[in-house]
Amino acid sequence: MEKYKKGNFKGKINSSGQIALDTYKLEIISDLQGAKPGQFISVLCPEKTFRRPFSISNFDSKKHLLTILFKLKGDGTNYLKNLKKGDDIEFSAPLGNGFELLNKNSLLVGAGIGIAPMLFLKKELDSNNIKNYLMGGFKSKEEVIEGSDETVIGGSVLDNIEKIIDEKQIEIIYSCGPLIVLKLLSQIAKKKNIPSYLAMERVMACSLGVCRGCVIKLLKNNEEQNASVCKDGPVFLGSEIIWN
Ligand SMILES: Cc1cc2nc3c(=O)[nH]c(=O)nc-3n(C[C@H](O)[C@H](O)[C@H](O)COP(=O)(O)OP(=O)(O)OC[C@H]3O[C@@H](n4cnc5c(N)ncnc54)[C@H](O)[C@@H]3O)c2cc1C
Ligand code: FES
Repeated sequence: MEKYKKGNFKGKINSSGQIALDTYKLEIISDLQGAKPGQFISVLCPEKTFRRPFSISNFDSKKHLLTILFKLKGDGTNYLKNLKKGDDIEFSAPLGNGFELLNKNSLLVGAGIGIAPMLFLKKELDSNNIKNYLMGGFKSKEEVIEGSDETVIGGSVLDNIEKIIDEKQIEIIYSCGPLIVLKLLSQIAKKKNIPSYLAMERVMACSLGVCRGCVIKLLKNNEEQNASVCKDGPVFLGSEIIWN
């Protein structure tokens, strides 16, 4: 059974603002009861047929406050950027499977705006007293989103990762970011013989598992399977993803 009831919600903006170059934060008050890190919402944008998916970057169950962080891209994110305190917002949530919290020494890697779900995951691991270390990687210092234990600017967030895995005796990796970062991380995890849980991103139309537009291929028990990123994911075991 799903932990939190999925549905369509009408919320109000509690706060909005810029947090880095072309990057914004929105806090939304609604009747949503809860969400897991790695789950996402899909927002109805005016005059757009398809809703826009955004990772949940925090959920405060006492205040019923949901946070998303987003980078400007096109019409949908420009609409979100202009929302102000008290404005209405409609969205479906919580969507997708989310990360499983395991009691293992965890390395979290957020590349660019991929840091958004990692901040929520870190908060949940901390509140469950699970040891973790969050690395954030950004192209420039203007793009840095605060909240990581270690921030890499300019170079690749993966440059020192093997050393960190060894030194910190990491037992599991969680990540969200560009496909190439996820692919390399899955290879590093394999080499180190530890699991990696990766939040994948695909352009989404329905976000509900219906259109099959976001399907990726998995290899499970030596059999190829199709999986929709929006419903079966977005989080998958790195060792099961067939990378193209
Ligand atoms: C599960 C998931 C979680 C995401 N979480 C975040 C987040 O936390 N913060 C953030 O800034 N972005 C996130 N994205 C990407 C975000 O959905 C797109 O940047 C956004 O939809 C762009 O909309 P737009 O109208 O501004 O841009 P346009 O380019 O005008 O969008 C056109 C169409 O393409 C789709 N699209 C465009 N780029 C992407 C993309 N990279 N991924 C998926 N669909 C895309 C849009 O949904 C829309 O249907 C996430 C995507 C997925 C799949
Ligand atoms: S977006 Fe339609 S099945 Fe995933």
